[in-house]
Amino acid sequence: MRTETEHTIYLKDYAPTPYRIVTVELDFKILEEKTRVRAQLTIEPRPETEPGTPLVLDGDGLTLDSIAIDGLPLVLSAYLADENGLTLVEPPHRRFVLETEVFLDPAANKKLMGLYRSGGTWCTQCEPEGFRRITYYLDRPDILAPFKVRITAPLAVAPVLLSNGNLIDKGDAGDGLHFALWEDPFPKPSYLFALVAGNLGSITDSFTTMSGRKVDLAIYCTHGKESECLYAMDSLKRSMAWDERRFGREYDLDVFNIVAVSDFNFGAMENKGLNIFNDKLVFASPETASDANYGNIERVIAHEYFHNWTGDRITCRDWFQLCLKEGLTVYRDQEFSSDERSRPVQRIHDVQNLRTLQFPEDGGPLAHPPRPDRYREINNFYTTTVYEKGSEIVRMLSTLLGEAGFRKGMDLYFERHDGDATTIEAFIKVFEDANGVDLAQFAQWYLQAGTPEVTVSDEYDSATQTYRLNLSQKTKPTPNQPDKPPFVIPVRFGLVGPNGSPMGWSGVSGGTVQEDVIVLDEESVTLTFTGVANKPVPSLFRGFSAPVRVVSNMDLETLLFLARHDSDPFNRWDALQTAATRLLSEGAQGRAWTGDAVDALRDALVETVQDPSLDDAFKAQAISLPGEGVIARQIGENVDPDAVARARRQMIRELVAPVGAALERRYEELTISDPYSPDAAQAGRRSLRNGLLSLLVAGTETGGQLAARQYETASNMTDRYAAMAISAHNWTGEAPALLGDFRTRFAGDPLVFDKWLTASAQAPDDGVVERIRATLAAPDFPRTNPNRLRSLLASFVMSNPVQFARADGAGYAMVTEAVAEIDKVNPQVASRILTGFRTLPSLESARQAAGRSALEALRAQHKLSRNSSDIIDRILGN
Ligand code: PHE
Ligand code: ZN
Repeated sequence: MRTETEHTIYLKDYAPTPYRIVTVELDFKILEEKTRVRAQLTIEPRPETEPGTPLVLDGDGLTLDSIAIDGLPLVLSAYLADENGLTLVEPPHRRFVLETEVFLDPAANKKLMGLYRSGGTWCTQCEPEGFRRITYYLDRPDILAPFKVRITAPLAVAPVLLSNGNLIDKGDAGDGLHFALWEDPFPKPSYLFALVAGNLGSITDSFTTMSGRKVDLAIYCTHGKESECLYAMDSLKRSMAWDERRFGREYDLDVFNIVAVSDFNFGAMENKGLNIFNDKLVFASPETASDANYGNIERVIAHEYFHNWTGDRITCRDWFQLCLKEGLTVYRDQEFSSDERSRPVQRIHDVQNLRTLQFPEDGGPLAHPPRPDRYREINNFYTTTVYEKGSEIVRMLSTLLGEAGFRKGMDLYFERHDGDATTIEAFIKVFEDANGVDLAQFAQWYLQAGTPEVTVSDEYDSATQTYRLNLSQKTKPTPNQPDKPPFVIPVRFGLVGPNGSPMGWSGVSGGTVQEDVIVLDEESVTLTFTGVANKPVPSLFRGFSAPVRVVSNMDLETLLFLARHDSDPFNRWDALQTAATRLLSEGAQGRAWTGDAVDALRDALVETVQDPSLDDAFKAQAISLPGEGVIARQIGENVDPDAVARARRQMIRELVAPVGAALERRYEELTISDPYSPDAAQAGRRSLRNGLLSLLVAGTETGGQLAARQYETASNMTDRYAAMAISAHNWTGEAPALLGDFRTRFAGDPLVFDKWLTASAQAPDDGVVERIRATLAAPDFPRTNPNRLRSLLASFVMSNPVQFARADGAGYAMVTEAVAEIDKVNPQVASRILTGFRTLPSLESARQAAGRSALEALRAQHKLSRNSSDIIDRILGN
């Protein structure tokens, strides 16, 4: 038996700790060489705890320097300190103060968990288990306490000293040192602790809350970057106003601080009153950031801010409940973006993301329920399933309960659980209690993995004017879950009449229909609609009302009819995608499409582009053909990525050939002469123009030159990057020169360098593997920075299936060699890159075998972190 299984942690083993921590006082003395942390924890046994029960505190890589209880140093036999923590053998059976002192070396901390240095700045990352790398503690989310934090540091290197909560004192500390004292009155778990000390610039602003309290806002950054923080600040103020409007949630401290750092494992972190951000999600200027970057900044600023209520005020009882805060907060940030921009465009964007990233996870060896029941390494569960599928579950709740019923449940959640560390069950319960409904079966969405497949068939009887619609669901087995009871699937729908307008009916029987939502809660349901005047076309899953895959035999003509006439914009887009995906997946499997089919698809696309009632951003999404990954998922097994890429290219050529000149005219017309603005209208116009460019480059002989011209004349990063990335992706004759120019033009800007790394790694040319090797081997490549590594390697494994999954194994070998090195430095980054192997089981046998042996070799030849071995074991199925 593998030793790792001994580390498996099960939800069913959850138990509260025998002791609780009542208050926390931390005293940091930060010096260039080392940092001393003194912790004073007020601790007490729970009423039910037997006297003599040991107290086991977590610690990771700490060395204990001194220890005392109520001011008296402990004798050696009273405690035991090792690599994994500190045990007090027989603590007092009453409230007592434990004082410990440890020394840290933040500059040597390259895992970026705990206290580390990024550039010159000292900063922390504690979620999920980083606090135990700072001091001995009950480092789990169900231990909540108020924190008081004193920071002392050299004034010259660290004039800025920040922690959670409100600043209550500051001053001189002698010897060139100064101090700050922060107090966070809201009891919080250790994973929300944060500290920043450094020489930073800032911008400030303020927000007056709905009850009239003034909150001071600040964003801290490297000196010189202040003006690039303005869009983030604007996003923050809009987020604060939105949460008041939409959910009645007001901010609760006197200050809200954000700090941008360059070395960060994730996007950003919601520490109470002191959010810490990966700087790529803060900095924006028209010359260096794309429209997509602006959109992401707005979304993530909102996401972290929204966590103040869904995450901080109400937190998780244990890490199995991660989805409680993440799924809900993603739902809230998606709603924010929908309200601030265009709802259908946002929805399409989110669904594209779900299909591209979450569906492959849910359909492969890494599949897990949104609320898992076991893990070996919690860091491997910050997944698209927990986040994005988690959000879809909350969205389905709102669809089933209606907006008012959903809001009633949320209000009750905030009222009942403020200050709690709670569970998914408690979350479900508030919606049951507020609406008087039973959601037991609905809760299966949290407990079962896998993407349900819904099969649709229908028949119309003109004699009786009766329409029958059959819907049946089935979910394939996933790891540890062979059989699955049916899900509750909300199907938002409408019937579309022959002239394209909505059709009514006089009665419906055979299943549950709530207004425009069919509730599919059994394996199969047949609905009978009476009084249906003509044969209708069903428009199902409007707005993507459930995260399922739909299997239907609707013919191409009917799909394209919906693409033209459906009153639901999401389904118009989706009908086009379904039609294209079907043709492409058949083409990739050697079943050629007909010329008529391509003509019909082209007509629908052209009509969409010309429709004056649709906005540009929507049109851009409509003309973007499904990606290679989506086509591969449709094929399902025995996938040959070369054949997929070839089919996609061939399809674009055939689509574009007769209309190239017209598309190019449209492309020219869409040129923008106004100064750059990241607003939705301008960004939409640019995305349509760049979508057309993409078709022209892939589909015409002269497209490569058009892209090169756009690259040279671009006045903003969106257009310049699009021109380069499209050229690289199609490996045009101009691509190498554009990549070369981009690299030197922006040398010295690390976030723009990331864009070069990504575009270069996604190019499908045969030289890409060697190019990545050379980039990695260059002596000045910043090999400990997560953004650089991910831009280069995660982009390659996730979006270059042709070269990553090369039949000769060269792509796999390059990646596993790189991962072996990265894993020694930063296991979280390493294991993330390895998740790219999750599509192995769907590949044709030679590629699959090559991938498996690369992973087996990596596992056999290196002593890997728990993070990386967990991913490999699960992908290989053991
Ligand atoms: N909790 C962060 C979020 O907002 C993500 C995160 C997880 C950041 C772990 C750092 C470490 O989603
Ligand atoms: Zn989050």
